[in-house]
Amino acid sequence: MSQTDREKWDARYRDGAYGARVHPSALLADWVDRLEVAGAAPRAIDIACGAGRNALFLARRGWHVDAVDISLVALGRLRAAAKAEDLPIICVERDLEPASDALNGIGDGKHSLALLIRYTDMPLVEALPRAVAPGGYLIAEMHLRTDVPVAGPRSPRFRVAPGALRRAAAAFELLYYHEGFVDDPDGRTVALAQLVGRRRALSVNDAHPGPGGP
Ligand SMILES: C[S@@+](CC[C@H](N)C(=O)[O-])C[C@H]1O[C@@H](n2cnc3c(N)ncnc32)[C@H](O)[C@@H]1O
Repeated sequence: MSQTDREKWDARYRDGAYGARVHPSALLADWVDRLEVAGAAPRAIDIACGAGRNALFLARRGWHVDAVDISLVALGRLRAAAKAEDLPIICVERDLEPASDALNGIGDGKHSLALLIRYTDMPLVEALPRAVAPGGYLIAEMHLRTDVPVAGPRSPRFRVAPGALRRAAAAFELLYYHEGFVDDPDGRTVALAQLVGRRRALSVNDAHPGPGGP
């Protein structure tokens, strides 16, 4: 990501981008109560959180959320909303490129849920298992390539090819996968790849590798 891209996102948010998109991802809303998480205040990381519609949704339900984005303008909006409601959201300014460094110091396996909603970066998906605690979840949603005119990014660079999200998240046990058209609450039709996966719990051998083990 170049400085120009950062400025582009800041300018978009300054112009009021996504101001009306306050509803959470329907995929997250559908799955949040099905997640088996221990403790009264589980931790989530919302990656490329934007103005934080999903982070706010989770925090209102008792989650502690680390919310990561490159746009200080978007994070400022989220920080103000979280403060107004006294919600436990920590905003982290971070360039997620390159994916190999994206989660250093923030995605270190302590989260019960990683959220990646409408941000397309397949190397980052491949790096996500280390951000999630064993038994924790990944909920991911990306714009899908299609020839049908739908809302969302015009460039195929910001859309996933059919099957690509599923392959990139192969380290997670697949709980749900869908590719197709979805009507957003604002009335726009989008083409999406959606995935819910669970990081496999560590086996005894993982925790205590024997002689010759890793
Ligand atoms: C389409 S918005 C999605 C926001 C949010 N996940 C949602 O569903 O409302 C994509 C977000 O990715 C962020 N972004 C773009 N490139 C980034 C990068 N290199 N590092 C971190 N965030 C980035 C933008 O600032 C923007 O907030």
